[in-house]
Amino acid sequence: MFEHFKTPRELFEYQLGAALTMEDDSLAMLRELEVAAQSVEVKQLLLHHQQETEQQIRSLEQAFQLLGKEPSRSPSATTKGLMKEGNALVAKTDKSLVDSVVLSAALSTEHYETASYESLCIAAEALGVAGVVDLLKQNLQQEQHTSDELNQAARKLATATAAA
Ligand SMILES: [Fe+2]
Ligand SMILES: [Fe+2]
Repeated sequence: MFEHFKTPRELFEYQLGAALTMEDDSLAMLRELEVAAQSVEVKQLLLHHQQETEQQIRSLEQAFQLLGKEPSRSPSATTKGLMKEGNALVAKTDKSLVDSVVLSAALSTEHYETASYESLCIAAEALGVAGVVDLLKQNLQQEQHTSDELNQAARKLATATAAA
């Protein structure tokens, strides 16, 4: 179906739906990366963010409800592409180095999610939908926090690997 958006609200609702698809795909990616990860520390980091991601999906569904809409999913290809790229590199990397690929793939997704929520927060603030802004900000903060954790884990691993 051809869609043509004429108001900021229509565009925002479509992009909110793309965020739902992004989160579904992020959850699938986190599960696959957790299986691929070798260390308990990396597995636990990914598991913790899976739980946060499940909550993020519920928060996005709640945002739709606050707007008086049924939650709907819009197409979103980016996370699927990042997952494909991550899986391909995991498949051709020795197990001793896989965690660095896993952390890098997860970090890519977190940065994309962060950018998505930054834009959604800007639009929601301009539209004056305060409850929705709060939900989106919570998701944004979780993505930023996860990025920081992934960054630290990647740095620690790279230092240990280089010293070995
Ligand atoms: Fe997320
Ligand atoms: Fe995330």
